[in-house]
Amino acid sequence: MHHAFLVKDPISLIQAWLDDARAGVAEPNAMTLATATAEGMPSARVVLLRGIDERGLVFFTNRESRKGDELRTNPRAALVLHWSALGRQVRVEGRVEEVSGAESEAYWATRPRGSQMAAWASPQSQPLTDRAELNTRFEEVAARYGDDPVPLPPFWGGYRVIPDAVELWEHRNDRLHDRLRFTSENGSWRAERLAP
Ligand SMILES: Cc1cc2nc3c(=O)[nH]c(=O)nc-3n(C[C@H](O)[C@H](O)[C@H](O)COP(=O)(O)O)c2cc1C
Repeated sequence: MHHAFLVKDPISLIQAWLDDARAGVAEPNAMTLATATAEGMPSARVVLLRGIDERGLVFFTNRESRKGDELRTNPRAALVLHWSALGRQVRVEGRVEEVSGAESEAYWATRPRGSQMAAWASPQSQPLTDRAELNTRFEEVAARYGDDPVPLPPFWGGYRVIPDAVELWEHRNDRLHDRLRFTSENGSWRAERLAP
């Protein structure tokens, strides 16, 4: 960990920790996503990390969901990844952009057909009368597309969290945990150690 101060960007450190997590943790890509209304009322939920590179961290969702509404008026988010078995936590904060249509299309193509149909069938975050309404909607989507490919819905796609702050937290004995916080300044990263 003390070498971290020599690393140019914290993204490669997150990638290394993700590799460790994929080797031995269930749902290594599950992360808590916090958004907020324009007034600053926060909300949080788990989504799956579907891409990470020097540009940021990507997840996919219904853009008309509660999180989508909040991101439209307040395009900032915080993310938390926690791997209990590894004693590690990653925190990310930054602004959020929609990924390109091509990027959403590429990921959409990898989704199982059932998930694609569910995206069309589910008005995410809206109230449903009952479970039957959801089943009926799903059957309607299945009938509409038959054996045809299921297209990317216009209301569905990815978001990229472009980090301006990243913290890597690692368990240490006696609660003397390691905390390294990276902040982006004019395109380069500054690292500092925080008290646990
Ligand atoms: C392990 C796990 C992974 C999830 N992954 C996603 C995801 O990638 N995208 C998504 O829209 N919802 C995902 N969900 C569901 C969200 O937690 C949430 O219920 C949904 O997105 C609606 O959130 P909202 O009403 O705040 O917009 C996941 C839930 C769990 C427990």
